[in-house]
Amino acid sequence: MQYLTELEATINDMVHPGRGILAADESSPTIAKRFKVINTESTEKTRRAWRSLLVTTPGLGEYISGIILFEETLCQKADDSIMVPQAAWAQKIVSGIKVDKGKIPLALSPGDLITEGLDGLAERLRDYKQQGARFAKWREVYSIEQHVPSQHAIEANAEVLARYAAVCQQEGLVPIVEPEVLMDGEHDIDRHAAATEAVQQAVFSALHRHHVILELMILKPNMILPGKSCRQAEPDEVATATLKTLRHTVPVAVPSINFLSGGQEPEEATANLNAINQQSTDEPWQLSISFGRALQQTALQVWLGKPENVTDAQKALLKRAYLNHKAMQGQYQTSME
Ligand code: 13P
Repeated sequence: MQYLTELEATINDMVHPGRGILAADESSPTIAKRFKVINTESTEKTRRAWRSLLVTTPGLGEYISGIILFEETLCQKADDSIMVPQAAWAQKIVSGIKVDKGKIPLALSPGDLITEGLDGLAERLRDYKQQGARFAKWREVYSIEQHVPSQHAIEANAEVLARYAAVCQQEGLVPIVEPEVLMDGEHDIDRHAAATEAVQQAVFSALHRHHVILELMILKPNMILPGKSCRQAEPDEVATATLKTLRHTVPVAVPSINFLSGGQEPEEATANLNAINQQSTDEPWQLSISFGRALQQTALQVWLGKPENVTDAQKALLKRAYLNHKAMQGQYQTSME
């Protein structure tokens, strides 16, 4: 079947030891928030400048094998006037696209959320594919409160995520399946672990029901952390809890687990990834990244929206990517910062 060959080729181009995925798919309100911190207005021009800077960073392909783009960027030119997906592929970085339309409250379930965007998805995927996207990303979001996420919400979200993944595979795009249990709140690490385990179990059960081929997808989960308003946890504690949850839930057929950073500081996310890889003992999946903030933040603070800072910002991005590359091998040390 044609689409299987295509999906296999994409997985082969994306899953490499020591390489991860750069998430640069912030929605318009989110990128405006990130730019506000550096006093830069979010316009079509500034967004293009920033994302072009990312994708044309010399040497980035050594540590990054995929980039998740927002719809707008997929049809933009990078600075050297080739289209962004071609500029990425010049360094063997595969382009993908965020295809969900964001979260809304789940009706009649106070505190629970659900993600929209399934209507017309197959047609949109065909267009994105023509423009150079080879994989897609969809994020379901779960907050932690006293009675949230409810079992009902966990099941509803899993169903949506699995339907998205099935449509992607049918259309020849590798699905990144992202169930994010947020770290906001006062919960402890055990509560985060329990919620994440319930969420991931429901997700894999739904993927099975929808005939999704596990070998041809990527899981993008949260690490297991205490809530932001709770205490900090040491990397070893995060790693133990994260690996335990993944071992309970993720089938061996899944080739790669690429963590989101979810609001962790860049150094914190890298140290946690490093501990996860150090503690991993013959895990069947690659344990890699699909960081947004934790890869971009330092570079953004160097760039400040100014063309004269592009080269230094690219160096900052490359360094962050390199440190995460070391962490994927369990060889990162804080002294490398
Ligand atoms: P963060 O790493 O900033 O959480 O972003 C990853 C992402 O793509 C969220 O959907």
